[in-house]
Amino acid sequence: TDLAHIRNFSIVAHIDHGKSTLADRLIQATGTVQDREMKEQMLDAMDIERERGITIKANTVRIDYRADDGETYVLNLIDTPGHVDFAYEVSRSMRAVEGSLLVVDSTQGVEAQTLANVYQAIDADHEIVPVLNKIDLPASDCDKVAGQIEDVIGIDAHDAIRVSAKTGEGIHETLEAIVHRLPAPRGDAAAPLRAMLVDSWYDAYLGVVVLVRIMDGVLRKGDRVRMMQNGSVHQVDRIGVFRPMMAVVDALGPGEIGFLTASIKQVRDTRVGDTITHEKRGCDTPLPGFKPSQPVVFCGLFPVDSAEFEDLREAIEKLALNDASFSSEMETSAALGFGFRCGFLGLLHLEVIRDRIEREYDIELITTAPSVVYHVFMKDGEVIELHNPADMPDLTYVDHVEEPRIRATILVPDEYLGDVLKLCQDRRGIQLDLTYAGPRAMVVYDLPLNEVVFDFYDRLKSVTKGYASFDYQLTEYRADNLVKMSVLVNEEPVDALSMLVHRDRAEMRGRAMVEKLKELIPRHMFKIPIQAAIGGKVVARETLSALRKDVTAKCYGGDVSRKKKLLEKQKKGKKKMRQFGRVEIPQEAFISALKMD
Ligand code: GTP
Repeated sequence: TDLAHIRNFSIVAHIDHGKSTLADRLIQATGTVQDREMKEQMLDAMDIERERGITIKANTVRIDYRADDGETYVLNLIDTPGHVDFAYEVSRSMRAVEGSLLVVDSTQGVEAQTLANVYQAIDADHEIVPVLNKIDLPASDCDKVAGQIEDVIGIDAHDAIRVSAKTGEGIHETLEAIVHRLPAPRGDAAAPLRAMLVDSWYDAYLGVVVLVRIMDGVLRKGDRVRMMQNGSVHQVDRIGVFRPMMAVVDALGPGEIGFLTASIKQVRDTRVGDTITHEKRGCDTPLPGFKPSQPVVFCGLFPVDSAEFEDLREAIEKLALNDASFSSEMETSAALGFGFRCGFLGLLHLEVIRDRIEREYDIELITTAPSVVYHVFMKDGEVIELHNPADMPDLTYVDHVEEPRIRATILVPDEYLGDVLKLCQDRRGIQLDLTYAGPRAMVVYDLPLNEVVFDFYDRLKSVTKGYASFDYQLTEYRADNLVKMSVLVNEEPVDALSMLVHRDRAEMRGRAMVEKLKELIPRHMFKIPIQAAIGGKVVARETLSALRKDVTAKCYGGDVSRKKKLLEKQKKGKKKMRQFGRVEIPQEAFISALKMD
């Protein structure tokens, strides 16, 4: 196809504003898929994605559209992952297209993810067409929302398209706008091949499928291509496009988006953002800006039943083959036994992987509290990347510790603003900005990521009754007065409970922690001291008093079946306990104890 007849675009939106529904409608309106084949949410392939209502892997579809001017255009839609954990993947897919539809629910208005995603589109120099969705609903207020887009985002919204992705109203106008308001791609078919690796995933029949955007040159079946990042060479055995089902083609030229397969075994070998060129007469310089996505949140995964350790290893290895941003190494914990320390892009990524292990591999897991990666600067000049607070070196050798900071954007109705400010303040936040968009406030905070990874979302949801929207970006590593807090149960340190905290907050956190543990650990036949300590110094202490009577004693003389039941129940409870020295700690304690109220 010649460049003038190609339009490449993505759809950016806050979750639930109708991105998938609109994409489905565009596909349907152009006859790309027959109605009877039309499945709801065509683009969300994975079960978990569908269940959670989020699109994780970037996906794409090629649509042929005969416009009102009589010409036929090829429209390539790249479906970007909407969540902050996948920010780097979003930014790469944005760089593969020239324009965006900015979908805003006209009954809701601009939300935090709308902003985060539209800034990515602006960064990628996109032409942006605002689309006001859900105009069929009585609560729709297009003028207000258009005004808000102009005020908050600062883009012209007077000719925003009014759409109902549900009824199909405004879909034709949207297609015309894609053709006439978005620019055609540029590129040189005669130049050496430069293709951007936008995404890749594992297909049971085809092996690894690689989604590419051709910048310059032409890619043909049978070509030998080189991944510029690691220099590996592959023979292309198939190329094609998504309509949205895979359809094989002979060649892909500049401006086009499609896929290739080349008997690649592992997704790991195909890094998002890499440049693909020909083995011979390839281009000299890769496309700018490649950076592999780095895990930022780490936690331990341990099997509840230690006999399942090998199964867990296998599950983790399989998942890692197909997810280059998921890392793992073996870990042993005195409290939890053998397991793995795993790295993720963020909390959502962690939850998705954990769910898949539990569901697809049927392994019950203990997840330790997530922690960020700290940079520990030693007095001798060495810098350690600390993935596990339990490994924190002795403070006497440590010069200082740096932690990752984020820039968080929160949109919230005015009446909850006070609670949100308090929450951010409590989490060591520094307010950067506070503005109003109608009855809602937009606050921007600089926060330590470690205060956010654990239960910030939950707290935010609960103090705002679910009305706040939240998004963040990593900004930098910064030094702060961070110390390791250890927890001792019956005089023994429990490594899975140690954490890095700010010195000024250590007593408070320590006290909260030991109080929680006192509630969570059942009484034993002897008394158990529970302590929080920094270095050798105990900062908080509780004592769990000894159990005097046999639990079954109260059934004395009572009926035997009740006694049996009680013992049975105890036995069941025991499975979820971890023997620690002489003390049994219930599994839930490892997470609950770290939650702050
Ligand atoms: P994620 O894929 O979860 O990010 O959400 P999304 O932005 O793709 O939203 P989705 O298309 O799943 O739509 C969210 C909900 O809004 C669904 O229940 C849709 O049926 C509904 N919806 C989407 N568009 C419209 C519309 O124009 N009118 C009405 N009434 N409902 C709509």
